[in-house]
Formats: sequence, structure tokens, C-alpha cells
Amino acid sequence: MRILSGIQPSGVLHIGNYFGMMRPAIELQAEGETFYFIAEYHALTSVRDPKVLRENSRRVALDFLACGLNPERGALFRQSDVPQVTELAWILSTVAPVGLLERAHSYKDKLARGMTSSAGLFNYPVLMAADILIYDSDVVPVGKDQKQHIEITRDLAVKMNETFGQAEPARQLFKLPEPRIQPATQVVPGIDSQKMSKSYNNTVDIFADEKETRKRVMSIVTDSTPVEAAKDPARSTIIQLYSLFASKNEIEEMRERFRKGGTGYGDFKKELFEKLWEYFSPMRKRREEILADQSYIDNVLARGAERANEIADQVMKRVRAAVGL
Ligand code: ADP
Ligand code: TRP
Repeated sequence: MRILSGIQPSGVLHIGNYFGMMRPAIELQAEGETFYFIAEYHALTSVRDPKVLRENSRRVALDFLACGLNPERGALFRQSDVPQVTELAWILSTVAPVGLLERAHSYKDKLARGMTSSAGLFNYPVLMAADILIYDSDVVPVGKDQKQHIEITRDLAVKMNETFGQAEPARQLFKLPEPRIQPATQVVPGIDSQKMSKSYNNTVDIFADEKETRKRVMSIVTDSTPVEAAKDPARSTIIQLYSLFASKNEIEEMRERFRKGGTGYGDFKKELFEKLWEYFSPMRKRREEILADQSYIDNVLARGAERANEIADQVMKRVRAAVGL
């Protein structure tokens, strides 16, 4: 089984990215060969500073490896190291109905949030389809927000198969990929209790330093219930975040203390900080080790690019022949 996913280097990775995408992606390494890449071409739709794009891309690779991605079990690579993907995106765009792309939620949301429209932003799902189809991917682990993009990918694969494929299913041009969606319960709230997102300035980053991390956790927005009063654990961001790191018993115990009263939010936040800091401690250590070996990341990315190119070249040969190039 071939498993593929991408992450945009449009900012610094946060614990929402970790629990929503990175940890599941790392766990999936037990089930097949993985292809994970840093989606720089996609990030170009929003990042305009070359230095920032370069730094973020490297940092995404570093953080992913530090969190436990095993480069022996699959390829980690830069999207731009497989430029053939843009050729496939062009070919796919010639069968992509404009109406299908106009219905993309992500495109509409981005415009609604004030991003200027560009042909790149509009074609974003076509490039994403090329990312997936060029590796004959079977499974694509993503957050719920990306589900429609996988459906578009399947639509484009079907269209290509109908237009250029052979009659027997065995000779189909493209495999139809399956999404592997994280359940909605996995949406990690930010410190303002909205969805944690790089674009909302509400993140707790995985590898910020201790002072900054503590500051972010202590800034979690709460209501003004006094220390001695009972508090509602049901809608508390503190408890939701604590649940990501603590055991069942610990979570139940904190819930109980919320209901009992006598403990202020500040104390609960301190406990959350301690748990979070401890959880990522082995990963911080691994990150230091990787940083000490200057060539490690370059080697991993170079090996990943080699493997990715191997597959992409095979698939593109098939595609070019099928369409008449
Ligand atoms: P951001 O919203 O911070 O820009 P991206 O859109 O780049 O994040 O998402 C990268 C991956 O992380 C996607 O698979 C997405 O579903 C997941 N993800 C992002 N934010 C969260 C969150 N708050 N909770 C769960 N998963 C998330
Ligand atoms: N659009 C994805 C996101 O914003 C990133 C991405 C690009 C991707 N190409 C992909 C994810 C291919 C899965 C498969 O999160």
C-alpha cells in the first residue's frame, strides 16, 4: 500500500498540525510505504518571501523528523524536487471542469478571508490531484478540510481514465485514491478556542522555547469564574488540550476538580503546560540531535527526492504515452 500526504510550509507547525496530521501520518508508516512531502508550490499561493519559504520548508522537514517520522520507512521530500508534478497538473487542468473548481470550499474560504484570487489559488486542487496521482497513491491521510480536494482528485482521475484509459480496468491510467480522514473530534482548539490555525495567531507551536510555550498556554482564554467557584469542564479549552496529553484517569481527575471548585484556571493551565512540555521532551531531544548533524536533513530529502522521482517518472511515462506526447 502506498500512502501519500503533503503539508504546506506556510508557517511553523503547531500542536493542531501534530495531532491532526503528523501523528496519524507517522503511525501509518506501519501500514505501507509512505510518501510525505513539503508542498512548496502550494505555499507559493500565499508566501511571497523567498527567504521565509526556504526557512519554513527546512523547518517542516526538521520538525516532522523530530516528531518521529522514520525516513527508512518512506520518502520525505520537497515537492519542487519532483517538478514533473507541474506537467501532470497542466495535463489534468485540460480535463478539469471550471465549475468543479469553482465549487471548492477551500478556494471560496480563502477569498472570503481576503486572499487575492489568482489562477494558482484557483488551480490549487488540480496541483494537489497531480501530487496524489503521480505516485499511484492508495491512501491519503488528511484533515477533514481537505476531503473535498480528494474528491476532486478522484473526479479528475475518472475523467482521465474515461478519456485516455484502456477498456480493461487493469489498464486504467490512474488509480483512485482513498482519503483517510481524521474524525472531527480531532480538531484541536487554539488558545482563543477557535480551530488552531497558523492563520489565526492562536497556536501553541510544537517546538517553541519554554518561555514562549508557557506564555501561550497561560494566555488560553477562559471565562471569569472565580477560583473558589465550580467550573464547567464540558466546554473548556484547557481540558480539551489537556486530554491530548494526559491519561484517562488524569483527565477525569481534572474534570472532577473543575466541578468541585477551589482551583483557579491559572493552576489548571500550569498543569497543562507541564504535561505538554513533558510530552514533547523526547522530540525536542531528537530535534537537537538532528540539528547537530548538518547534513542529516539534506541527505533525507535527497534520498526522498530520488525515490519520489523514480515513481513519478514511471507514471509520467505512462501518462505521456496515453495522451500522445
Ligand atoms: P493551518 O490551518 O495551521 O494553516 P494547514 O491547513 O496547513 O494548517 O493544515 C495542515 C494539516 O494539519 C492538514 O491535514 C490539517 O487538516 C491539519 N490541521 C491543521 N490545523 C488543525 C487543527 N486545529 N486540528 C486538527 N488538525 C489540524
Ligand atoms: N492542501 C494540503 C493542505 O493544505 C497540502 C497538500 C498539498 C496535500 N498537496 C497534497 C495533502 C496532496 C495531501 C495530498 O493541508
